[in-house]
Amino acid sequence: MKIGIYGGSFNPPHAGHLAAARAAIRALKLDKLVFVPAGDPPHKELAAGSPSPEKRLEMISIAADQLLLPDVTDVWDVEVERQGKSYTADTLAEAARRWPKDELWLLVGTDMFMTLPDWREPGRILKLARVCAFARRLSDDAAALKAQKKLLEKEFGATVKLIAIPDLVDISSTRLRENLSRGEHRGYLDPAVYGYILREKLYGTDADLTHLTMEELRCVSWSMVKARRLAHIRGTEETAARLALRWGADENVMRRAAILHDCTKYWTQEEHVALCDKYGEPLDDLERSAEKLLHSKSGAVMAKYVFGQEDVVVEAIRWHTTARANMSLEDKLLYLADYIEPNRDFPEVEELRALSFEDLDAAVAMGALLSIREMEERNRVVHHNTLDAYTYYRKEGRPWEENG
Ligand SMILES: [Fe+2]
Ligand SMILES: [Fe+2]
Repeated sequence: MKIGIYGGSFNPPHAGHLAAARAAIRALKLDKLVFVPAGDPPHKELAAGSPSPEKRLEMISIAADQLLLPDVTDVWDVEVERQGKSYTADTLAEAARRWPKDELWLLVGTDMFMTLPDWREPGRILKLARVCAFARRLSDDAAALKAQKKLLEKEFGATVKLIAIPDLVDISSTRLRENLSRGEHRGYLDPAVYGYILREKLYGTDADLTHLTMEELRCVSWSMVKARRLAHIRGTEETAARLALRWGADENVMRRAAILHDCTKYWTQEEHVALCDKYGEPLDDLERSAEKLLHSKSGAVMAKYVFGQEDVVVEAIRWHTTARANMSLEDKLLYLADYIEPNRDFPEVEELRALSFEDLDAAVAMGALLSIREMEERNRVVHHNTLDAYTYYRKEGRPWEENG
């Protein structure tokens, strides 16, 4: 295997890091790329007020996840766990123990590459790993880079590869941090990383989570879920907005409900139950034991108590998985948006999409019936609210009921 080791403070991880990671995976045909956030970087002190190593670890994990290559990318906490300065030589020695049969590549930016001979134990570093240095344009400092490559090869027997990354964004982390504290300019950050920064109030952001703008709410919600879920959440939001327009609901309300509806989707059962119990959210026995049902309850609690959303948003989230009898317009719209958004794919989806814009109640009944059938096929208990929704909204003579 070819393994890239990409160290740095990641304070915060930004678009430049992700562009470099993507390019290195492509250029070196890496089987694995391991981000290694520094615990205590040896080359420079971390800026005052920097997030803890654990929070930087969390940020780089969120950032790495956005590459959507879960089998390739990994985040390794070896330097965060190790006491004292984080020396690359020690990290590579540890990596060689961990992956003894694999080809290790150390990934570095131009600045670091030019100072490499001054690091601690450069000879040991260059024995343990090959080096890949990336620059925005090789032409910029081609002569210097090539001279350095020659020197490392001659003096240390190193293997060095230079790669150009045209979309490598030129942004200094220092500038980025200053801008963040002024509430400006988060364009260089992945939305989910920015959402985590807001949630944890890092870099002096100090956001009031109960009064976020729509864009901020999106970032915060996206920071709570796996990147592979984002297409579904975005699809649900856009579908909810279209349904709002069709049926005369408030688009802003529907967007916020959709943005938050799955925000607790990746919690454990214990986390769901603990939050619901803390805020007195009633759970029946079936809900307590089913994660799929729990996330709509804990999602409702988060929407109400953490994100300060009004009841109409909270209720829509609460019923988005099971539905129930006597739903509000907004409940129905979120239930259906979640069901028919563009990423959904099941045999009846086109019919349900059309029906959602023609006859809302019939669409809810059809959705409930499809869920009931699916649960029965899988030998699972159907929640009584779903059965109630079907009985309440069903209409005679619908073609999808015939073979039911
Ligand atoms: Fe959901
Ligand atoms: Fe969903």
